[in-house]
Amino acid sequence: MRLLRRRNTKLEPPPKRPRGPFYEPLLERREFTLADLDPLHDGLRIVQLTDVHVGRATPVHRVRAAITQANAFAPDLVVMTGDYLSHTEKGVHLLREQLAGLTSPVVAVLGNHDHWVDADGAAGALEELGYAVLRNQHTNLLLRGAALTVVGLDDLVTRTTDVPKAFHGAPRQGSRLVLAHVPRTAEYLLHYRASLCLAGHTHGGHVNIPGITSAIMRGLRENYIAGRFHVQSTQLYVSRGIGGAVMPFRLNAPPEVTLITLRSAHPDMRRAA
Ligand SMILES: [Fe+2]
Repeated sequence: MRLLRRRNTKLEPPPKRPRGPFYEPLLERREFTLADLDPLHDGLRIVQLTDVHVGRATPVHRVRAAITQANAFAPDLVVMTGDYLSHTEKGVHLLREQLAGLTSPVVAVLGNHDHWVDADGAAGALEELGYAVLRNQHTNLLLRGAALTVVGLDDLVTRTTDVPKAFHGAPRQGSRLVLAHVPRTAEYLLHYRASLCLAGHTHGGHVNIPGITSAIMRGLRENYIAGRFHVQSTQLYVSRGIGGAVMPFRLNAPPEVTLITLRSAHPDMRRAA
């Protein structure tokens, strides 16, 4: 794999809303126009949940609110981009309790905290809930009469990412969505058809002090802190996520549930919104 870096550290302005450490996640609505989207998928609705970090730093009711918000959107698909656990194996039990109840098909990948604590435990708990877990794999889902290929990459921090393995054998045409935990995983996708990649990991800086947090994160090679980016030919979206691994308090980085609508790049193929 060849690593191509692109400096793109621009932050989206923080949403205007009164905030405190225990409020419900902010609903972020985003549309992505994809040239290779199957026309039948114009208007496809996807919810992204990420960085739930079950445990003492994430209020249970915030997690449950996120589940309720996701179900209310009635998405075609829910994707989860890692870090369900925090620091202890007790989180596997909490994960099973708190993340239950999503009513749409769910596809998940793992994050660095999951690997540090208990990757197999996290994956097993998600699968017990009926959620698919992709560990450098892809799956073809039949949604609205057409196949959507979801490619799930494992975690870059723990060096478990295997891009060629995940893409091997994936259909050459049709709708495709890539899931990763760490945003800069998108830098490894140049030679793959990956028009949209969804990621998390950064918490939007978590305690996002203007000018300082972004500088610290750049030093950690986290150049994509929150929001939309273009990385080569890939549109990258980085969600601020839901929880905290260490402290519940956030600043200028409110918890987020992302409501995504996919749009065809061909206007004559678009359906009414
Ligand atoms: Fe992470």
